[in-house]
Amino acid sequence: MNTKNTSCTALQEWVDKVETLVTPTDVVWCDGSQEEWDGLAQQLVDQGTFIRLNPEKRPNSFLARSEPSDVARVEERTFICTKRPDQAGPTNQWADPIEMRDLLTGKFTGSMAGRTMYVIPFCMGPMDSPLAKIGIQITDSPYVVVNMRIMAHMGSHVLERLEKETDGTLEKKRDGHAQFIKCMHTVGAPLAEGQEDVPWPCNDDKYISHFVDTREIMSYGSGYGGNALLGKKCLALRIASNIAREHKWMAEHMLILGLHAPDGSKTYVSAAFPSACGKTNLAMLEPPKSYADKGWKTSIVGDDIAWLWPHEDGKLHAINPETGFFGVAPGTNWESNRIAMESMAENAIFTNVALTDDGDIWWEGMTKEAPAHLIDWKGNDWTPDSKTPAAHPNARFTAPASQCPTIDPDWQNPDGVPIDGIIFGGRRATTMPLVYQAYNWSHGVYIGATMGSEMTAAAAGTIGKVRRDPMAMLPFCGYNMGDYFGHWYEMRSKLTHLPRFFHVNWFRKTEEGKFMWPGFSENIRVLEWIIDRCKGNAAGHETQIGWTPDFQDFNTEGLENFTQEDFDRVMKFDTREWRSEVVSQGELFIDLYDHLPKELIFQRELLAARLVKS
Ligand code: OXD
Ligand code: MN
Repeated sequence: MNTKNTSCTALQEWVDKVETLVTPTDVVWCDGSQEEWDGLAQQLVDQGTFIRLNPEKRPNSFLARSEPSDVARVEERTFICTKRPDQAGPTNQWADPIEMRDLLTGKFTGSMAGRTMYVIPFCMGPMDSPLAKIGIQITDSPYVVVNMRIMAHMGSHVLERLEKETDGTLEKKRDGHAQFIKCMHTVGAPLAEGQEDVPWPCNDDKYISHFVDTREIMSYGSGYGGNALLGKKCLALRIASNIAREHKWMAEHMLILGLHAPDGSKTYVSAAFPSACGKTNLAMLEPPKSYADKGWKTSIVGDDIAWLWPHEDGKLHAINPETGFFGVAPGTNWESNRIAMESMAENAIFTNVALTDDGDIWWEGMTKEAPAHLIDWKGNDWTPDSKTPAAHPNARFTAPASQCPTIDPDWQNPDGVPIDGIIFGGRRATTMPLVYQAYNWSHGVYIGATMGSEMTAAAAGTIGKVRRDPMAMLPFCGYNMGDYFGHWYEMRSKLTHLPRFFHVNWFRKTEEGKFMWPGFSENIRVLEWIIDRCKGNAAGHETQIGWTPDFQDFNTEGLENFTQEDFDRVMKFDTREWRSEVVSQGELFIDLYDHLPKELIFQRELLAARLVKS
């Protein structure tokens, strides 16, 4: 029974239509209140999906264990549905929108039988931002509802806003031709009459499909992370990248960080890194004592996604469309990331971490020594002698950004924050120096387009090979990557104050396999050079690959035992390594050849020319 009527006719008709298709037992329109969240959390405890953590240690927080078959985003089941395959491009999985809609309509038929259908009005971005997007997610997963309330503005106030925009009481200032973005999600596990539910319902058959032209998402079969919390990767990146391309802004897989210098100035940078390169740690970087004592501070606007647009002041401005962190838990600890640990101190959801005997959570890397006994992420007894990890390597915490001690005062400013620097990076044992600056926008786009990380997966023959992940968008760009680079070039002409571009690499290793750079909070030294370059204050010298700092331009004060020799080693330029770098980029260039902007091809040629021995 549908309990709510909305004056937004398009929404009402859609919800009614979906209800008829998926035949739930009942329909709940989520109001986003604390009472609703508490009630759903208790319901999840009662049905065995959630374990309430010890309220003295972790107030109002819960642990969920997923099915072992449903633990991560499923890129091989993610589809971009466009009329022609070349619109999705060779790095995406294309599907015909009519065929995919038919197929999924079949799968959704009766898919919510025996379950409640939740209608979640949500808004990505501060509601008054020109870039904010209203979405409506329909789901049969209460786990998704409670996570969505952490990750996005959600509830009655969003619905009222949509209604006011529909009846003309409020002018809709946002772009994109959809009033709201339709996001349909089911775990794909209907219940027959009398059938008992399981703690983590899902289906082995999974589809995460994006209908680009109509701005719709249909997700079937998974209850986990980016497959199910549709505001995140599906809307804020894959669909938004399409809207952004059309309306001349940018939806990027970037953190947004504020740096407060002792002179009182504040500079914002955004940064893109492929997975497993310490993105969350950089977003939550705390200055080391030698910096903090001088008055350096950092603040975070976002840890994962940035929406950027040419502001009327001529600069690129950025908002974080999300309101929470959905971070990888393993490896996070009080030393590596105090800010993350504090952000998840209460009101948090943990998925696939281990449970301690006193009702708290644990994962690999949280403490130097593992507890003597745990319940692992599969619900089994675990001791340090166990052969399998206690937490799944992709175990996650969902925590409200508002609980972050260094959240930027402007993180909800509809006008965003001005971006002065754009940083790309990857995990590279060789070749890439600690930091270098692009000559200009065109070169910067080339650096972002060719960035990558060495593969650490144990798949035969892949270790050490560079996986190109342009702007860290490979799994998230909702259209042809070649056109995406073209869009970056086009954006140049919309700005009068250009951000500067940089590439960083915290992971260069000696021949003996030791990291050359201490990383973590010491990365602020690199950021100091970067922001001084943005302000035009720092010296640097021009090299074959870009601008780099000299030892004397780089702040090593308080960095023990880091000599000029160490600096030269981590900054070393090796022609031989760069020649193989240029050669290995060829694979990406050939894959994208027919949509690749000429500027990129020329940038590669120019680099090759600079590498020729005279
Ligand atoms: C994420 C990712 O989960 O990028 O944020 O994979
Ligand atoms: Mn991400």
